[in-house]
Amino acid sequence: MGPPPVAFFFFLFLIFIFSPFCFNVTSSSPTHSSSFSQFSGDQEDASVIVENFTYSPYSQNRKTHQHQQAFAAPISLPQFTFNSTDPTDPSTHSTMCNKAGSNPNRVVLPTNVTPSHYTLTITPDLNEFTFTGYVEIDLTIHEATKTVKLNTKDLTIKTTSIEVDGKSYEPVSTDHDEHHDTTTFTFDTDLSKGAAILRIRYDGILSDKMAGFYRSSYKDAEGNTKYMGVTQFEATDARRAFPCWDEPAAKATYTISLVVPTELVALSNMPVSSVTQVEPEQKTVNFEKTPIMSTYLVAWAVGEFEYIETTTTKLEKPVTCRVYTLPGLKEQGRFALEITPKVLEYFSEIFGTAYPLPKLDHLAVPDFDAGAMENWGLVTYRTVALLFDEKTSDLRFKEQVAVTVAHEIAHQWFGNLVTMEWWDHLWLNEGFATWVGTLAVDHLFPEWDTWSTFVVDDMQRGIGLDSLRSSHPIEVPVNDPHEIHQIFDAISYSKGASVIRMLSNWLTVDVFLAGIRRYLKKHEYENATTDDLWNALSEESKIDVREFMNTWTRVIGIPILNVTETDGLVTVEQHRFLSTNDVKAEEDETIWWVPLGVHPKPASIVDPNQTLKSRSLSFEIPEGAYLFNKHYSGVFRTNYPPSTIKRIGKAILEGSDLVGLSDRAGLVADIASLSKSGHTATSNFLDLVQYYKNEEAYVVWELLANRVGEIASIFADDERINQGIKHFQRNLVDRMVSKLGWEFPEGEDYLTSRLRNVILRSAGRAGHEATVAEAKRRFALFVSDPAHDSILHPSIRQTAFEIVLSQGGEEEFRHVLKYFHAAPKQDQQVIALLALGFVQQPELIAEVQALAISESVRPQDIFYVLAGLSANPASRRPTWEWVKANWTTLANRYKSSMSMLGACVKYPLSQSSDASLIKEVKEFFADKDTKDFQRALDQALEGLDINSAWVAREQQGLSEWLSANNY
Ligand code: BES
Ligand code: ZN
Repeated sequence: MGPPPVAFFFFLFLIFIFSPFCFNVTSSSPTHSSSFSQFSGDQEDASVIVENFTYSPYSQNRKTHQHQQAFAAPISLPQFTFNSTDPTDPSTHSTMCNKAGSNPNRVVLPTNVTPSHYTLTITPDLNEFTFTGYVEIDLTIHEATKTVKLNTKDLTIKTTSIEVDGKSYEPVSTDHDEHHDTTTFTFDTDLSKGAAILRIRYDGILSDKMAGFYRSSYKDAEGNTKYMGVTQFEATDARRAFPCWDEPAAKATYTISLVVPTELVALSNMPVSSVTQVEPEQKTVNFEKTPIMSTYLVAWAVGEFEYIETTTTKLEKPVTCRVYTLPGLKEQGRFALEITPKVLEYFSEIFGTAYPLPKLDHLAVPDFDAGAMENWGLVTYRTVALLFDEKTSDLRFKEQVAVTVAHEIAHQWFGNLVTMEWWDHLWLNEGFATWVGTLAVDHLFPEWDTWSTFVVDDMQRGIGLDSLRSSHPIEVPVNDPHEIHQIFDAISYSKGASVIRMLSNWLTVDVFLAGIRRYLKKHEYENATTDDLWNALSEESKIDVREFMNTWTRVIGIPILNVTETDGLVTVEQHRFLSTNDVKAEEDETIWWVPLGVHPKPASIVDPNQTLKSRSLSFEIPEGAYLFNKHYSGVFRTNYPPSTIKRIGKAILEGSDLVGLSDRAGLVADIASLSKSGHTATSNFLDLVQYYKNEEAYVVWELLANRVGEIASIFADDERINQGIKHFQRNLVDRMVSKLGWEFPEGEDYLTSRLRNVILRSAGRAGHEATVAEAKRRFALFVSDPAHDSILHPSIRQTAFEIVLSQGGEEEFRHVLKYFHAAPKQDQQVIALLALGFVQQPELIAEVQALAISESVRPQDIFYVLAGLSANPASRRPTWEWVKANWTTLANRYKSSMSMLGACVKYPLSQSSDASLIKEVKEFFADKDTKDFQRALDQALEGLDINSAWVAREQQGLSEWLSANNY
């Protein structure tokens, strides 16, 4: 099993390149058919026995490590102790183990032996890229047994012994199962029931695969390449760092020690308890014991770190907060540091439980596959998701940092304190953290309109993916851990967060949060399921939450509400929505519970939540304009008749209060999607757009610009339509281009700054003359002299790069490339990579493709390059050819990061409308093993189908509309 997928982080950047809706990259789908059922049967029985296993008193008397014994007395630091029920005492918590009873196909470890405490010493060698480990695991043997089976991967076991009843035994055989990442120790005598200690010495590899305990490289001030070491364990890579029961329900406590060069900093989940000098150049850093927790949340790191620090002020026990970075970068952590105590205090309050650890560190890691990881007390980040420089960073990274920090801190409760019982419930972790992270950002920065951004970004991503046949239900059984990767996608994150938002509005946010407090209290330091959450919310609200939610989390897809007006009645009818607009009767059997949100509320609907629980419903036509899905709270598309759209359009034009910010954005999103799927004519969408003449809001403009731009992009091969739409687009943005200009006035509000970029990017892509000329002028000044740096504000730089490159300038290309190579900061590299794909000449396109897999681009960053190359009509076809020609290289390079490989397939095809590609793609993959990225492949093919059908269907109607409207 490979490292974690880049997961969701892809998405967060796509909106700067693509329309957020036509494009949904998901993680890959390693669907190993699970004929593996050796654990069914007796395992179910065992799991009953161990429900409440007891903590071994034996473990408290165990000998200290050899390291500790051998050296001078530790330098003691103040120790932190937990109060209330002791979270470090597994006997007070009903953990363990995987109740495979609920699903006999789950591939899980046997539960005859369970761990309660790990004492772990790791000695990394940052020169040889290896480490040695020594672990003592306190176990409970629930039934006499000759075998002990646990997870390991890429570890070389050197010695093993088990101590039972004061006697030590060595295994007669040690068997590794490579497919299941397990090692089984077999003893020649029965190990008797009760407490035991398993002791293992082993070696591991400090790989560059961004999984397990791995190395990450950086250049020091003199330009020498150096390395740091860091862990990434979710979902199943703790087993690459130490032998363990690597399942979320196998909670245990940990005492970790790192033996490292004296000059380096060692970090872990808990604060340092003591440091012992081993030799002049080596020290052992011992960390305090953790609370009871899952293996995937254990973390440590070692390197030349520096930090900045603050503490909470409102919590009874102050929490020390630090941002750690490589040398010279710590000041860029200032923004993340400033918000950390505020987020901790906010969550401590709304979750009704204080953050339980004495410290919370954030660490920026240059090589990082995902966006960030919520390790308890030591959160790790991709550099661009944590560091931000007010002077040199594109402003959008600031919101990105806030969202990421809030999301990961939310997991400290939701995920870390209460953990999903098994990966089936992953959506609960990720969907909830996404929702509550947004709640926190909105609390801290109300001026950012974060919830409207949520409607435009997350919700559209979730709905967009769920409108494909190749989607999946939110709650999806995960049998084999090999399948986990496929669900780190827009369904778990974005649809998950969207249905939680819908539910929280249905119950009211106050009642919802009271239910969350109840859930957290009841399951703290334990594991829970989706049903446990529904129970807590139902108890709190006295409403059957499960009934409402089952249609949203257990069924694939989302509904479309078809609205008609006849005989004085509005009738609304729900069906499954598919972007291919070809739903079959057997796919259309679900009746969702839909909160209609009709506004103004019709008198004949008495339910305050207006919940539609049947196929259809009618009410009297209200006087004047009315809306469905007020605040865009419900997760569905509304298909109004053109006359109704017109009425709403007029209300928008008049600036009526009826249609708020999210409503205006939601309407554009819905009608654009419905015109793409063919539920309504694309001309209806263009008609609607004309009602937004007075629009000034950033989120609405993001949608308008992207969705109109999407038409130009998908119809790129039809010269008439492409040109006509670009003309329409130029007209649309012209007023705002003049209004906003290229300068960023001192003290300007955040949303206006963001808006400027959306407008100029849209204008540039549409060939707006004044914009193109100004981009060229400013770019020339920018490269002529470093003193002109401010001529291209960091928040507009990527757009300017993109415009000059799309105009075909070779010289400009050399400059942007130089900027990329020389950029001292990762966020500056990212904006260059995103822009480089817009080059026009075939030889430059080839150069950018080669760059994507060169030493200069970290493997984690390939998708930035691919995103540009795929949005650019001139390079998307050549990039698909390039992917085919380089398939073996790409497949080898990303064999352990299948979501990247999936992206390599999906990106270049995503905006193409060439139906002949469908056959070509199928033929190309016919003789290849696609199971690890099958979902991405299916989605790419479905996308081609949708795009090509759109073009075929609308070619005539669109050109007629454009001509009739003088475009
Ligand atoms: N738990 C995830 C990180 C993760 C994802 C680990 C997939 C292993 C596999 C983390 O909480 C997360 O969701 N990170 C996001 C960023 C976030 C701001 C949405 C990510 O990495 O994309
Ligand atoms: Zn998360």
